[in-house]
Amino acid sequence: MSCVRQLKSLVSLTLIISLLPTGLAASTTQKISLPGCPDKCGNITIPYPFGTRPGCYRDDGFDGFQITCDESITTPKAFVGSNSSNIEMIDINITSGETRVYKHIGYRYYDTEDHVIDTNNMVMDTMDSPYLFSYRRNKFTVIGCHTLAYIAGEGDRPYQSGCASFCEFQNSTTGSSFFLTQTAASSCNGLGCCQTAIPAGLNYYKVKCGYDNKSYWWFNPCNYAVLVEEDSFKFQVQDLMEQYFLNRTQTHVPFVLDWAIRTKGTCQDGVENSTNRACLSYHSFCRNTSNGEGYLCQCSQGYQGNPYLFGGCCWSYVLEVNI
Ligand SMILES: *[C@@H]1O[C@H](CO)[C@@H](O)[C@H](O)[C@H]1NC(C)=O
Ligand SMILES: *[C@@H]1O[C@H](CO)[C@@H](O)[C@H](O)[C@H]1NC(C)=O
Ligand SMILES: *[C@@H]1O[C@H](CO)[C@@H](O)[C@H](O)[C@H]1NC(C)=O
Ligand SMILES: *[C@@H]1O[C@H](CO)[C@@H](O)[C@H](O)[C@H]1NC(C)=O
Ligand SMILES: *[C@@H]1O[C@H](CO)[C@@H](O)[C@H](O)[C@H]1NC(C)=O
Ligand SMILES: *[C@@H]1O[C@H](CO)[C@@H](O)[C@H](O)[C@H]1NC(C)=O
Ligand SMILES: *[C@@H]1O[C@H](CO)[C@@H](O)[C@H](O)[C@H]1NC(C)=O
Ligand SMILES: *[C@@H]1O[C@H](CO)[C@@H](O)[C@H](O)[C@H]1NC(C)=O
Repeated sequence: MSCVRQLKSLVSLTLIISLLPTGLAASTTQKISLPGCPDKCGNITIPYPFGTRPGCYRDDGFDGFQITCDESITTPKAFVGSNSSNIEMIDINITSGETRVYKHIGYRYYDTEDHVIDTNNMVMDTMDSPYLFSYRRNKFTVIGCHTLAYIAGEGDRPYQSGCASFCEFQNSTTGSSFFLTQTAASSCNGLGCCQTAIPAGLNYYKVKCGYDNKSYWWFNPCNYAVLVEEDSFKFQVQDLMEQYFLNRTQTHVPFVLDWAIRTKGTCQDGVENSTNRACLSYHSFCRNTSNGEGYLCQCSQGYQGNPYLFGGCCWSYVLEVNI
């Protein structure tokens, strides 16, 4: 079985069909999930190996290819895993092996005497799942004045990094001090906001805060620290004001996870012959993931679709013939 996917055509249908190799039927219906399985949760497309019902997702003994679809709300929301993990999905990319989710922003609030009165969401954990934090797309981001925050891994990935953020700086010529302005804060550069990269292979982090002092700058009683999709985050100087950042982000930011088939090692480890092999479609091949151990399946050149399904990779053609 094979299928054909038309991407773009400027010619008539009869001509398209006459151009197809013999034996192929033109079809624009493309399978993305297993037969009988929902391929959507709200407006989020759910491609196999992901699925929302038992029998609809790949079972690697991991929680993660399963998706919980909360249909009790007007626009249903998808969550990672079998239980309400509280990690809401934005989208899944079958080609890049990336899933974008919302991460709740970690914060600390202080009272007037510099006592921590509330701490929340300072930990992120995707252990026992096919997910690792994308080191290419995320940055550990800290917002605050006179703030030093560390990000720490754990277990077999002991790791610690961090950055410091200040809100006043000195003019080296005149020696006078300046507070942060919007111009100076146009990017996350250490003034009011700092960012640092994370290494590959992380599936757990927690945030630790170093020195802070609420009285240091009156309008920044809280500190925020979060791993965030770098491309989607733009620092504004008002983010330093109490509640503003949480208001404008609705307390969460996009965050990118790298998923892969992680049970049978790399492409080299007999993957093609194993009983639970993942790359099922003709015209597909296996490639190692660049984050951690495991592999992804990909349709061969000239084909598009879902390589994790039988007949999932479809011949795709582009006709740009003007007649
Ligand atoms: C789904 O709908 C939400 C809210 O309407 C929107 O913000 C989001 O971009 C949509 N996602 C997709 C994948 O279309
Ligand atoms: C889901 O939650 C139930 C009850 O809280 C628990 O017994 C079960 O182990 C959880 N399953 C997973 C896969 O975390
Ligand atoms: C998925 O990822 C691929 C490869 O990075 C990219 O070319 C493509 O535009 C992405 N698809 C979507 C819908 O974002
Ligand atoms: C420092 O002050 C001098 C003299 O007022 C000014 O020309 C210069 O632009 C200032 N530098 C910065 C980085 O603000
Ligand atoms: C915070 O800074 C103020 C002014 O510099 C100082 O008096 C106070 O002791 C500091 N508090 C802490 C907890 O370090
Ligand atoms: C945050 O939003 C609430 C309700 O929408 C509003 O009352 C409050 O003024 C906002 N705070 C800031 C700092 O924007
Ligand atoms: C898969 O099986 C075939 C036939 O049994 C064998 O020729 C081939 O070498 C095997 N490939 C791998 C990667 O083990
Ligand atoms: C996948 O990774 C393994 C182990 O690092 C390596 O031996 C193998 O050549 C890689 N395979 C491909 C297709 O890149």
